[in-house]
Amino acid sequence: MANDASAVFDTLSPAVSKGSPADPFTPPADSSLWRKNFLLGAATASYQIEGAVNEDGRLPSIWDTFSAIPGKVLAGDTGAVACDHYHRWEADVEMLASLGLEGYRLSIAWPRVMDAAGAPNRKGIDFYKRLLNRLKEKGITTFVTLYHWDLPQHLEDRGGWLNRDTAYRFADYADLMSCELAGTVDAWATLNEPWCSAYLGYGNGHHAPGLANDRFATQAMHHLLLAHGLAVPVLRTNDPASQKGIVANIGRGTPNSDSAADQRAAHLFEVQHNAWILDPLLKGSYPQDLFELWPGTEPLVLDGDMETISAPLDFLGINYYFRTNVASDGAHGFRDVPLEGVERTQMGWEVYPDGLRDLLIGFKETYHNLPPIYITENGMASDDEVTDGRVDDTQRISFLKRHLAAVDQAIKAGVDIRGYFLWSLMDNFEWAFGYERRFGVVHVDYSTQKRTIKRSAELVEKFLQERKAKA
Ligand code: FCB
Repeated sequence: MANDASAVFDTLSPAVSKGSPADPFTPPADSSLWRKNFLLGAATASYQIEGAVNEDGRLPSIWDTFSAIPGKVLAGDTGAVACDHYHRWEADVEMLASLGLEGYRLSIAWPRVMDAAGAPNRKGIDFYKRLLNRLKEKGITTFVTLYHWDLPQHLEDRGGWLNRDTAYRFADYADLMSCELAGTVDAWATLNEPWCSAYLGYGNGHHAPGLANDRFATQAMHHLLLAHGLAVPVLRTNDPASQKGIVANIGRGTPNSDSAADQRAAHLFEVQHNAWILDPLLKGSYPQDLFELWPGTEPLVLDGDMETISAPLDFLGINYYFRTNVASDGAHGFRDVPLEGVERTQMGWEVYPDGLRDLLIGFKETYHNLPPIYITENGMASDDEVTDGRVDDTQRISFLKRHLAAVDQAIKAGVDIRGYFLWSLMDNFEWAFGYERRFGVVHVDYSTQKRTIKRSAELVEKFLQERKAKA
């Protein structure tokens, strides 16, 4: 029975349900989302979807190493197969195009495209050439992230992001990729979420490479931002027509009470999550309050580094997921105080769209040189199942609608926001949570690799069709 129904709904081009004007996704008539030039797309990342970790000369990455250590990833999952996108990319591009999505944000696996001596790996590079050429043929706007956390293991063996040399190796990698792929990339993002790489990777050890030391985190962050700053002029030279930027995750911290101590705690939370990255990029300095939170952790900064890091950007990518309610920890910092009775996702993250709006408006006030913004990730995990060939992801539909409304409010308050990428195109390897947490607007059955379009994707498609018809 299920097979009959799934034949209708899990094909690459599902019939779009007509829906009613009052469907649970379509934005109101006055929403800026109806503007034809507001880019609506979906995002993925190499290690989370590609699989094929030993193929065509790909070298090990820190995530191969980390996920092989028992206890680091839920259920012992690894990215070895993931969504098998390395082999199924053509069908995946068809699927993306059939959903009418206008933009695709993907990342390149550094260990796939260069050998340990820094020489090009032709087979790996050709994979991305084929993929990007096909996306351009389909008229899809391409956002390419150079570093979405899969550092070559051989660089980690020499200190990884604690070693300043890694920043220069990154610039070499950016040079190679932008020479090879110029003309097929609309926007380059140097790094995805340096906060996660630095803090989760080197500060608390929840992510690869799994080190836990605050001083490591600040030094890793400095080298990550330096890598970004060194790469931007290289990208400008090799691929002048494209946009250059970086992607930052941002966090909303709200105080648990009106007390001055809790207000300070919420401020410090946002310094640690947002200003730590945005201040060096947009003001050319680290926020001093960070070192109140982590005394004695100032990174080693050489002359000229802050100028390199704060060179102008064409765009800033913003990833937003949830807020954290915090109180003072009685010392220098903050502690989480989870709120009761609020809506949460499968990750346990609170659904809090106002946080996105408020942060964006706040950034515009704080940073006079705030570049145009793309929301490069937003979405939620739910325990989605295929029933009779369908996935009714009701909570996600409502989540997306409310977050897009928050984006619209920020635009109306004067923030220059040019697009929004759903996280994610399809269910994938959710880092330390493995395959259990499903973020996709397309469901993936990992035993068969069958893709099933979720209801959320159908409704996004319907909206995009209506928008096109109006233009
Ligand atoms: C972000 C990551 C992305 C994905 C989402 C849920 O921090 O950039 O790869 O895992 O979270």
